[in-house]
Amino acid sequence: MEVIIMPTAEKAEQLAAAIIADALRQKPNLTLGLATGATMENLYHKLAEMNKKGELDFSLCKTFNLDEYVGLPAEDRNSYRYYMNYHLFDRINIDKRNTHLEDGMAEDLEFECAEYERLMEEAGGVDLQLLGIGLSGHIGFNEPTSSFSSRTRAVNLTPVTMAQNGPYFDPAKGEKMPTRALTMGVGTVLDAKSLLMLVTGTRKADIIAKAIEGPMTSMVSGSAIQLHPDCTVIVDEEAAAKLTLKDYYRSAFANDPKWDAYRNI
Ligand code: PGA
Repeated sequence: MEVIIMPTAEKAEQLAAAIIADALRQKPNLTLGLATGATMENLYHKLAEMNKKGELDFSLCKTFNLDEYVGLPAEDRNSYRYYMNYHLFDRINIDKRNTHLEDGMAEDLEFECAEYERLMEEAGGVDLQLLGIGLSGHIGFNEPTSSFSSRTRAVNLTPVTMAQNGPYFDPAKGEKMPTRALTMGVGTVLDAKSLLMLVTGTRKADIIAKAIEGPMTSMVSGSAIQLHPDCTVIVDEEAAAKLTLKDYYRSAFANDPKWDAYRNI
């Protein structure tokens, strides 16, 4: 695992965008695994900006998102399909038929999840999986106790996640946060050829330190990234506050030729 500490969230988002953009330029028919959440919004806007300027082409790109709420239709402003259309897909030249999220309205959720896995396999697997981390330690909606070999399935959300995402739902408008979701499993995520995790802000400092430097445990599903042979974690200074090996991460980023093109972002 490589950990890169950027001075600000803006710089962290910029670096993540540059890594994704280069992967897409190298392989125009890239299969991208995508994530939702507040952390990713600016990153997606940056990718959209590059697309608008003609620097990046999504016409052959395929995407698979990590997760979707059970019971929210695509038109619901709180669904992750809506989020993805709003923050990325409607702003870039991607063929919407190549964009995939689990269907949280499916009648047979088990079938829907198996079908999602089949589609990913048919696409040749995910090349680059973008990840955030939740306050519960989840990647996707893999809450504590999720098996490291879990696959796409329906899950129940923890009180920590209900509290984290609850404020997006406005009871005055009759909105209620679902307690269930469909998510790629931890095992599904680990099957991606490479992982890119982006984590910013003070409130994530404790959980990201556990995921990167703590013991691997299903109590923090994000710690499963330690198993992946090609994983980069980008954090801002705020999120990096509790990491013990900061000096090492900084010197590795400063000296590894792999990062030459990215150091002056
Ligand atoms: P956030 O969510 O980006 O809104 O903090 C991340 C997550 O819960 O995985």
